[in-house]
Amino acid sequence: MPEPIIEVNDLRVDFPSEDGTVHAIRGVHFDLFPHEVFGIVGESGSGKSVTSLALIGLLAKSATATGSIKLNGEELLGKSEKELTPYRGKTIAMIFQDPMTSLNPVYTIGWQITEAIQAHQSVSKEDAKKEAVRLLEAAGISQAENRMESYPHEFSGGMRQRAVIAIAMANSPQVILADEPTTALDVTVQAQVLDTLKVALRETQASLVLITHDLGVIAGLADRVAVMYAGRIVETGTVEDLFYRTAMPYTHGLLGSIPSVDDTGQERLRQIPGAPPTMVGDVQGCPFAPRCPLRQATCFEVEPELVKVTNSESSAFHTSACHFANDVTLMPAASMFTDTSSADESEKTI
Ligand SMILES: Nc1ncnc2c1ncn2[C@@H]1O[C@H](COP(=O)(O)OP(=O)(O)OP(=O)(O)O)[C@@H](O)[C@H]1O
Ligand SMILES: [Mg+2]
Repeated sequence: MPEPIIEVNDLRVDFPSEDGTVHAIRGVHFDLFPHEVFGIVGESGSGKSVTSLALIGLLAKSATATGSIKLNGEELLGKSEKELTPYRGKTIAMIFQDPMTSLNPVYTIGWQITEAIQAHQSVSKEDAKKEAVRLLEAAGISQAENRMESYPHEFSGGMRQRAVIAIAMANSPQVILADEPTTALDVTVQAQVLDTLKVALRETQASLVLITHDLGVIAGLADRVAVMYAGRIVETGTVEDLFYRTAMPYTHGLLGSIPSVDDTGQERLRQIPGAPPTMVGDVQGCPFAPRCPLRQATCFEVEPELVKVTNSESSAFHTSACHFANDVTLMPAASMFTDTSSADESEKTI
């Protein structure tokens, strides 16, 4: 097993709020290995973005972060803005949902890519420009040389995200963090931008942390996946572990949220009934219990640890935070949540 590039241990992030402290991240652990695509999925508010922002020290000033985030063995948590700057864009590149978060509207696309190259490499302006054209082409922008002179508003949404990917590639980072990189785009463009992301991975040999609420996106790209709920990772595994040996009822619920065609030929989309907790105050028991069709009394008393799943088919990475993980792996996919019923109506026992 190679050494991990990133090691996250017991990461906790709190935010102050009028209602009390928001425990946005409550003890996240994961390793990122070289050349792998690590997916993070979960509903809105589960802590995906806060986790990724913590990795490059971009949390809001009001946040309190504890635990450990190591990059190539070096602790990043607690480093100052100035100490982190050399890593950003160079070792870790970031792609956000809205490309305009990364692009500056008043500079041309070409200027911005050239600038990104020269920020970390001592090359001449001319060579940086040539490299910028090559990167734009690699990112799938046709007539790249002419397009260098365009401003971001002259690009479509998909082209802007390709330009951001070109910037991410500029310094051959070890890690690319992509937070919902295709969510704002329409479906056909989404697929093209994901292909561009694959080109970027081939070219840079970077590892990718891919954050999305869409398990369909993950299925086509990720080597390993972490499912987040209420500020913690509640299941990890290969794509096969998650799809075929699901060990956490919440993951079953997310899988049910992918459109599927039923026996009558109609497309159905099942929703997980209820809403995630607010994360203010202490959590008692499993935070998913109020929404879980398999909940038992113990689920309201003890929060389950993330432990290895012992199903014989499971990979070494398969873990789950469910008191009944091994029973859940034996249940058929997406059978747990019915289309319209609430968790109360569909309560089942193990
Ligand atoms: N700057 C902030 N101040 C206060 N609370 C915050 C702040 N940023 C995030 N939070 C809270 O932290 C929790 C996790 O938020 P996060 O943005 O990581 O969710 P997410 O999983 O990325 O959701 P989405 O899918 O909507 O992007 C939420 O409860 C959110 O309200
Ligand atoms: Mg987010």
